[in-house]
Amino acid sequence: MNNIEETLSIIKPDAVERNLQDQIKNEFKSKGFEILNEKKIHITKEEAEKFYKVHESKPFYNDLCAYLSSGPIVVMKLQKDNAVLENRKLMGATNPDNAEEGTLRKKYGISIDKNSVHGSDSLENAKIELDFFFKD
Ligand code: CMP
Repeated sequence: MNNIEETLSIIKPDAVERNLQDQIKNEFKSKGFEILNEKKIHITKEEAEKFYKVHESKPFYNDLCAYLSSGPIVVMKLQKDNAVLENRKLMGATNPDNAEEGTLRKKYGISIDKNSVHGSDSLENAKIELDFFFKD
């Protein structure tokens, strides 16, 4: 039975800076993700703080928000069967050192901060995160 979902993916500043966005988009497409919407933007630190509010209490929150707002990012609305889980599988572990071979973070990530991609961690958060960037 089909379970079509939408999820948010962000290509982070480290990957955009290295001009990897087309390569990463092709990785999604070759795994059957449809890119329903996308935009390249440069958000402010305040916007990053809102986006990552769930991590507010974490010691890395300030650096994380400074980093996400440090350069252009590409935000994408992805669609696929079980898109939330499939995107998480394709991204791999948060820390590229722990990510499995073939995953995006293993291939492109530099460090736990500069891990190249963000993806929603649940269907509920996917809706919230998609609304954050694509509410029209
Ligand atoms: P992301 O999936 O975008 O969600 C929050 C981000 O915080 C995460 O990827 C990492 O890039 C970053 N981060 C920095 N330090 C940590 C840490 N110790 N644990 C988890 N995430 C971290």
